[in-house]
Amino acid sequence: MSQKIDTVVFPVAGMGTRFLPATKAVPKEMLPVVDKPLIQWAVEEAAAAGCTRFVFVTSPEKGAIMSHFGDAPHYQEMLEARGKTRELALLKAGLPKNAEIFETYQDAPLGLGHAIWCAREATGDKPFAVILPDDMVQHQTGCLAQMAAHYETVGGNLVAVENVPSEETYRYGVLNPGAETDDLVEVKGLVEKPAPEDAPSTLAIIGRYILDAKIMDTLSAFKKGAGGEIQITDAMAELIGHVPMHGFRFAGTRYDCGNRDGFLEANLAFALAQGGDELKQRLRQLLD
Ligand code: G1P
Repeated sequence: MSQKIDTVVFPVAGMGTRFLPATKAVPKEMLPVVDKPLIQWAVEEAAAAGCTRFVFVTSPEKGAIMSHFGDAPHYQEMLEARGKTRELALLKAGLPKNAEIFETYQDAPLGLGHAIWCAREATGDKPFAVILPDDMVQHQTGCLAQMAAHYETVGGNLVAVENVPSEETYRYGVLNPGAETDDLVEVKGLVEKPAPEDAPSTLAIIGRYILDAKIMDTLSAFKKGAGGEIQITDAMAELIGHVPMHGFRFAGTRYDCGNRDGFLEANLAFALAQGGDELKQRLRQLLD
């Protein structure tokens, strides 16, 4: 029934003011978690899910992102001359061999729905994935690969969800949940950034989506929602009843790298996962 997901969209035009001054000259998506920038972790997750077409919705001020995925002749020549094959492989920045790259600008900060709409020429008439690189999920099987496996059966619109503390619903798109089977939750409605007293549940969307191509038509109405922005949550809500809509309870731990503490926690968690006995010991000493 459903098609394979080969295209992924990264909405990365935002300003990253929470990380100033670090993000004055460096895009927030280029901040490293351990040894790779956030955007590379996102690209690797998409590649592991089978994506080969990578669409960056960016802005002219954030050229470093495209440079990261482009050629680096100065490094290449030097590393080739020195026979450094391991480092040469690292220059690919996580892209698969057959990767196609697309860059498009979001010319005004009109919201996540608008950013996704900016990718419409590259996504065409097939379903596509969206990854918000701020949200990192730690698990052996990447979050998007888990979703792609389920998408084959459900189709339509599929979002990754997890329960959040009720006082935090105002930061997320929140589900009005219907029937549940295993890890999938039918979605009866969606609200973007509800106050705790207005939230239909505490089941919140985190930054992974697989979207039906019809979403682009819905977004092209440019309807403004929460915060005066064009919200992807509202566009998905409009499509309920026309295409299937499910939440997916992913396996793994999510880190919100959009704020300082979450970003630091992700760094520690990913560093420790890479086998850091010595680091563990030093952390214990620091805590003491
Ligand atoms: C966006 C979405 C929201 C979602 C969140 C996940 O919000 O609008 O529905 O729950 O990402 O991180 P933002 O974090 O851009 O405010």
